[in-house]
Amino acid sequence: MSKYYLTTPIYYVNAAPHIGHAYTTIVADLIKRFKRMQGYQAVLTTGSDEHGVNVERAAERAGKTPKEFCDVIAREFQRQWEVLGLEVDYFQRTTSPEHARVVQGLFERCRRNGYIYKGSYTGQYCIFDNLYVNDAKPGDPCPDCGRPTETITEENFFFKLSAFQEKLLDLYRDHPEFIQPETRRNEVLSFVSSGLTDLSITRTNIKWGIPVVGEAPHVFYVWFDALTAYMSAVDGKTAGDGAPLWPADLHLIGKEIVRFHAVFWPAFLMAAGLPLPTRIFAHGWLLFENDKMSKSRGNIVRATPIRDVMGADALRYFLLREVVFGQDGSFSYDALIGRYNSDLANGLGNLASRTLTMIHQYRQGTIPEGSEPEVAALAGQAIAAVQGTFDRFEFSKGLEAVWEVISAVDKFIVRMAPWKLARQQDQASQEQLNRTLYTAAEALRIITALVAPVLPDSAKKIWAQLGMQEPLEALRFETLAWGGLPPGQKIGEVSPVFPRIELKDAVAKMRALEEQVTAEQLAMLGKKPEPAAAAAPSGPAKIPIDDFLKVDLRVGLVLTAERVKGSDKLMHMTVDIGETEPRTIVAGIAEAYAPADLLHRKVVIVANLQPRKLKGIQSNGMIVAASVEDGKPVLAGFHEDIPPGARLK
Ligand code: MSP
Repeated sequence: MSKYYLTTPIYYVNAAPHIGHAYTTIVADLIKRFKRMQGYQAVLTTGSDEHGVNVERAAERAGKTPKEFCDVIAREFQRQWEVLGLEVDYFQRTTSPEHARVVQGLFERCRRNGYIYKGSYTGQYCIFDNLYVNDAKPGDPCPDCGRPTETITEENFFFKLSAFQEKLLDLYRDHPEFIQPETRRNEVLSFVSSGLTDLSITRTNIKWGIPVVGEAPHVFYVWFDALTAYMSAVDGKTAGDGAPLWPADLHLIGKEIVRFHAVFWPAFLMAAGLPLPTRIFAHGWLLFENDKMSKSRGNIVRATPIRDVMGADALRYFLLREVVFGQDGSFSYDALIGRYNSDLANGLGNLASRTLTMIHQYRQGTIPEGSEPEVAALAGQAIAAVQGTFDRFEFSKGLEAVWEVISAVDKFIVRMAPWKLARQQDQASQEQLNRTLYTAAEALRIITALVAPVLPDSAKKIWAQLGMQEPLEALRFETLAWGGLPPGQKIGEVSPVFPRIELKDAVAKMRALEEQVTAEQLAMLGKKPEPAAAAAPSGPAKIPIDDFLKVDLRVGLVLTAERVKGSDKLMHMTVDIGETEPRTIVAGIAEAYAPADLLHRKVVIVANLQPRKLKGIQSNGMIVAASVEDGKPVLAGFHEDIPPGARLK
């Protein structure tokens, strides 16, 4: 049996788990189950990324040591995966001693091979994303989170990433499947083709990290440490056939961490002379109210309230059917419940209960004999479709193919009208009834097997109701073929697997639980409870005062103003906001104000926005204005005198 080793990112411990994390881990669990059905020994690693300044600070806020803090949150992630029924084999913590040993070993190999050197780094750094921001100036925002970066200077160990440009391009060319989907591959290709700069991989200003042996006070930089978890989790471990589990067959990641995985990680491994992973697949983001769900945006939904009210399978089905894997997808309670009722309660659930109930009613719970080739052919096509689509990570498409068969079997049942056949005692009708019931039940068995990787709990229930003896986990595609349901088999008791869910009631329950879980998680993180943003019945999400204080609002004095050529809307201004030089600001106010109205006017400026080019002019800030729908903007201003540069708080 060949091995199939797959991983999820190891999650940061400075936030508690939400459905964004659950999404990747659920997909990984699905792939593991699917690969097992294909006959692989599938092994799944996830874990927690526990080092860095953020964690130190979060621990301090929570009144704990970093280790105590990490223990609590890592346990919470583990508990989460258990509660959701995910089959995790290894949960790797970056604070484990074995992991430290493997990181140090990887560094030594890279160093021995001449890819490590000491250098001095002065630059901008985002402490939230643990990211050096190349080519940034003091005060520039972090390209990932938009928060202001900090300037740091220190002696670091550098990794010679620049030496790997050609080797990486060769890798992408020779193995086009290495990074998927295509859009991400193209991004990586253009990033690497434009040239690579060496990478700082240690810190001297952090205590909470893995020490570089004999080089105190250097500790490893987060990505050199974190990525290595994929390898350290299975260090020295082999599959049943004795083959080492490393290298990974698949790294599943979110699209924001492609560069680290598709560029840094293979370069580290090449430098160390170690085998590379086969494939990296980057999925899109789960959005809530059109924004990426994330702690800093305060628009988080957790998985456990959904599981408690609707079952883990409902969440799994929604995520895999509704969201095209690889693209962004929106989460909403309405869509979740809509999908559940239409596809699970009315679709699969209804097919299962009507088929099994009829076998009880008309054949005393015994599977009859006979079959209809037209439905058998459809089921055969679905087996092939699921294998093909799932192998290409097209889960939504695969499920669509299965649901087409569900609806075809439904129509078949209606056409055959077994309830009429049951009333006719002639042999032909009774044989037709046998064929109809067997066909429906056998189609149900195959459908159940096909959806088992996506709906493991529910599939198990239907499997038992069909009276199947073979454990569902033991089922393989190889032997899944029409005719596997033995005539004469006694079916089990029938009970609804997907009872219909009433929207209002379920949403109210999930929102109440969401509030409770939010409070528990905040307490765990040592924070005071805030009203749950995602649970707010209406209006924009509430933000903590700290978030507001991140916006640098200043009084500005307009020095010059002129319309931007070729635009009705845009005004090009220079504005004194108390800095050595006035700011250039381009704003969409030219339909409401003439240049002369603006001169010497005191306005409010957002001073720490990322610069933006508008009609070729770089705008370094935003002017604050109020507006009603379809109305013209009205600039915010002051009645009293106030100097330019004063901060609004
Ligand atoms: N610790 C790093 C990863 C190191 S891997 C060697 C990290 N951690 S994280 O906690 O921020 O988790 C990021 C991953 O969580 C994403 O790549 C994605 O898999 C998942 N998601 C977190 N929020 C998400 C959404 N809103 N939507 C989809 N997936 C999301 O980055």
